[in-house]
Amino acid sequence: MDYKNRTKVSKILFNEAVPVNTPVTVLGTVRTARTGKGVSFLEINDGSCMQNIQAVITGPEKYPVLEKILTGASVRVRGKLVPSQGKGQKFEIAVEQVELVGEADATYPLQKKRHSFEFLREIAHLRPRTNTFGVLNRFRSKLSFGIHKYFQERGFYYVHTPIISASDCEGAGQLFHVTGFDLNNVPKKNGQINFDDDFFAAHTYLTVSGQLEGELLAMALGDVYTFGPTFRAENSNTSRHASEFWMIEPEMAWAELEDNMDLAEDFLKNLFKFALEDCKDEMDFFAQWVDKTARQKLESVINSKFERIPYTEAIKILESSGEKFEFPVKWGLDIQSEHERYLTEKKFGRPVIVYDYPKEIKAFYMRTNADGKTVRAMDVLVPGVGEIIGGSQREERLEPLVNRMKEMKIPTENMEWYLDIRKYGAIPHSGFGLGFERAIMYITGMSNIRDVIPFPRVPRWAKF
Ligand code: 4AD
Ligand code: MG
Repeated sequence: MDYKNRTKVSKILFNEAVPVNTPVTVLGTVRTARTGKGVSFLEINDGSCMQNIQAVITGPEKYPVLEKILTGASVRVRGKLVPSQGKGQKFEIAVEQVELVGEADATYPLQKKRHSFEFLREIAHLRPRTNTFGVLNRFRSKLSFGIHKYFQERGFYYVHTPIISASDCEGAGQLFHVTGFDLNNVPKKNGQINFDDDFFAAHTYLTVSGQLEGELLAMALGDVYTFGPTFRAENSNTSRHASEFWMIEPEMAWAELEDNMDLAEDFLKNLFKFALEDCKDEMDFFAQWVDKTARQKLESVINSKFERIPYTEAIKILESSGEKFEFPVKWGLDIQSEHERYLTEKKFGRPVIVYDYPKEIKAFYMRTNADGKTVRAMDVLVPGVGEIIGGSQREERLEPLVNRMKEMKIPTENMEWYLDIRKYGAIPHSGFGLGFERAIMYITGMSNIRDVIPFPRVPRWAKF
């Protein structure tokens, strides 16, 4: 069969590159099929855009195959592109030929127009074919491009850091193990698992972050960024946590925390601009179906300055807020998501960067401040989602870093490679991680992380 000479629906409807009366071939899936008096209509979607093209078949009795063309079937239609008679579309196809390529029977689950997100999660293998998930997946693709564009235009190199890692970057112990062992027969020495005999002769994990290796590459290339999958075995069943998510991690040589905040703010604003200007159709869809304020929300953020407050001040604000929080507020304790949301939604009504956190609640690699109590950490909080960026200026001084690792009981033996960049030409450097799914949630207004990634991995769910 000849699949090459087809015209994508997006080209027909949006590029206006196809003149009326041109013969076209469209390949796609039938969204609805209905027959009226002497005429049948097939709504066909080919995935190139949200819109369907309508195929009009006059004299359907000439096409016995139509009886087998049900919702969900894949078809090839050929005909002339003509201005549409009906409302809602500019063009339609006056069909001359129709072929059934792949049948679907009446059990096809996407018969109705609208389904709940909960139902669609149960059929995540088919939900990409719905309008919402079509839009979301195209949006993920475009936004990924926008992210690469942002960094590439500013001289950041895209680097690839390993997915299999022998270290726990965040030190939180939320690691998935990677092993070549036969799990029914794990070799032991003195009652302990003997990783010397494992595939890598080391205890290895799926990475929680590409940062540590990103730092090494920044020492060679200057400004770099990663954009890849990261994994966390955190058993928290919230709407904002996934066990596998994509992270964008820029790392800048010759940069301090202020530079890092500037980059984070500029990057987010540019990303929002990209969404508004280069993903118009998708944003229209989200504004209509998900979050009425989707556009205004981004516009106002683009035009505002992010609030920047030290952790100590954030705690004071929370303490004097008069709010009833579920979790306690006290200097030294972590800022919980309810606190984040108070700060960014109620107190400031825009994104907030909280920085200089107590060292006890942050990772080992962050630069210690002169007060000896806080570290050069920063979190970017946004309304509706809370933390979307976590980052820091890195501890580039060998001794303080080694001391910090000792305090936190992080063995230095397997981390010499990380310490070496402190030994050889150490320079101030900083970076952060943006959770891609959290960014999409914020931009679109989607409220569950399971609905912004095609195949979510969350506790007790990795089915498809
Ligand atoms: O704050 P985190 O843990 O920071 C790091 O991993 C640093 N190594 C980044 C760096 O400095 N290069 O994670 C960064 C961001 C969070 O702000 C959040 O947006 C997202 O990653 N994130 C998650 N997104 C979805 N599900 C999870 N379980 C997430 N954990 C973190
Ligand atoms: Mg964090």
